[in-house]
Amino acid sequence: MTVIFSGVQPSGDSPTLGNYLGAFKQFTKFQEDNDCIFCVVDQHAITVKQDPKQLKERVRRLAALYLAVGIDPDKSTLFIQSEVPAHAQAAWMLQCVVSVGELERMTQFKDKSDGKARVNAALLTYPPLMVADILLYHTNIVPVGDDQKQHIELTRDLAERFNKQYKKVFTIPDISIPKQGARIMSLQEPTRKMSKSDDNKKATIFLTDTPAQITKKIKSAMTDSSGIISYDKEEKPGVSNLLTIYSAITGQEIAEIVAMYDGKGYGDFKTDLAKIVVDELAPVQERLEELLVSTELDDILDQGAEKANAIASKTLLAMEKAMGLGRR
Ligand code: TYM
Repeated sequence: MTVIFSGVQPSGDSPTLGNYLGAFKQFTKFQEDNDCIFCVVDQHAITVKQDPKQLKERVRRLAALYLAVGIDPDKSTLFIQSEVPAHAQAAWMLQCVVSVGELERMTQFKDKSDGKARVNAALLTYPPLMVADILLYHTNIVPVGDDQKQHIELTRDLAERFNKQYKKVFTIPDISIPKQGARIMSLQEPTRKMSKSDDNKKATIFLTDTPAQITKKIKSAMTDSSGIISYDKEEKPGVSNLLTIYSAITGQEIAEIVAMYDGKGYGDFKTDLAKIVVDELAPVQERLEELLVSTELDDILDQGAEKANAIASKTLLAMEKAMGLGRR
């Protein structure tokens, strides 16, 4: 069976509409006829300073969110990265096959370290941990948003290098990016990616925003003065981003949506879009709150960690043997 693996960081106030459309929405589609493994990558989150109490809460909320968007624990494995020690162990070995130059070329590292006087070493060595996440499960497909492309390329390179230098231990994974929604942009600066950590909260729709907050953010989203609803990423990035969100949620083609709003103004379009987003997220939010107070969540995560540990520890042993570590 095809193995699907993906992870989301428990950082920021809550996952965003970008995470939802770029990642979560793909996950539920895959779980019907594939072997799916999903992870709360808490060890990735500590590459930047976190408040421990808050991080613990966010880990739990994110795990619940996976379920709330429709991940079915009978079909998929859901676990927390730090509960499977093989990830950090494999990441160390993979750091021994990657060069500093390759890590310094990662755009995410450049963006996050730009202009900072002090940068944690782990911000640089973050990719080998992500590579480990993926390779430990013999993953065939990694569903992610557009911003993870470079990391998946590195994963393929390192898997090939390891297989060649030592022994064929790893499967070479492919990336899956959604047709619409692979890069949802900021509502206030639509040439930048929508991000959990944007200082301007009006720029980001969080999955936990209330209907009133969502509506307000969409209504005040940056557009342009032409008043014409059409798709042009260069000239009309704001409206194009809103059209992308509309299309990614409803499944309608952009051309079809543009035709529907022919002769109408931004006001009507934004009112309809706000309702579409609110209606999409309402059931997710409701289920999230139920899950957080249930005991179901811990049982699912315990079972998930057990299943993940069984697979990952086997791959780890194969890596250690291939590299000549230990006595086995
Ligand atoms: P993270 O936590 O930043 O984002 C989680 C997922 O959401 C996607 N995404 C977006 N998609 C569309 N538009 C946006 N504005 C947007 N913002 C984020 C991301 O592409 C991602 O799919 N390094 C990863 C987490 C990770 C991982 C892994 C992913 C760790 N190990 C193994 C896959 C496989 C990250 O920081 O994602």
